[in-house]
Amino acid sequence: MSHADDHAGTGEGNRRDFLYYATAGAGVVATGAAVWPLVNQMNPSADTRALASIMVDVSAVEAGTQLTVKWRGKPVFIRRRMPAEIEAARAVSLDELTIDGMAQNANKPDADASDGNRALDEAGEWLVMIGVCTHLGCVPLGNGAGEFGGWFCPCHGSHYDTSGRIRKGPAPRNLDVPVASFFDETTIKLG
Ligand code: FES
Repeated sequence: MSHADDHAGTGEGNRRDFLYYATAGAGVVATGAAVWPLVNQMNPSADTRALASIMVDVSAVEAGTQLTVKWRGKPVFIRRRMPAEIEAARAVSLDELTIDGMAQNANKPDADASDGNRALDEAGEWLVMIGVCTHLGCVPLGNGAGEFGGWFCPCHGSHYDTSGRIRKGPAPRNLDVPVASFFDETTIKLG
């Protein structure tokens, strides 16, 4: 932790704040994946923490699995989709997205909810979303859950498709896509 500051000591203070975790039922979490803060996180004020970007090592995330990291106090799902998930997501026409037709992607404001406007990369392999149901804030189950093969929120029965778009149930909005980008081939930067 060469970037840790003078107060860091062993660096454990940093690590404790940024441990990744898996939500119950989310299934596979890549081993060896690590999250670390870009900016100095010692003695963080609420402001500093709110603005923090983090780097996520996704080198161990295999196709068909999802890594969940905690960022800005919320779970973030990083899913590496299988070809069939991408195909399913891209086969959906916009007029089928009757609950929310917008991408809800912080990287593409005002874009429509086509899968290409939600995936992180052009091929659509990577989907990064805030893992919080847009109804009342539960953490949806992943790994093909629900009637549309994506995520399912059991709290009140919201079904999200393989692009994280709300298709059925009380949630009013697609799962939010946060500011994210590839830092390098195996590292995703959140924020
Ligand atoms: S909180 Fe997810 S359906 Fe109500």
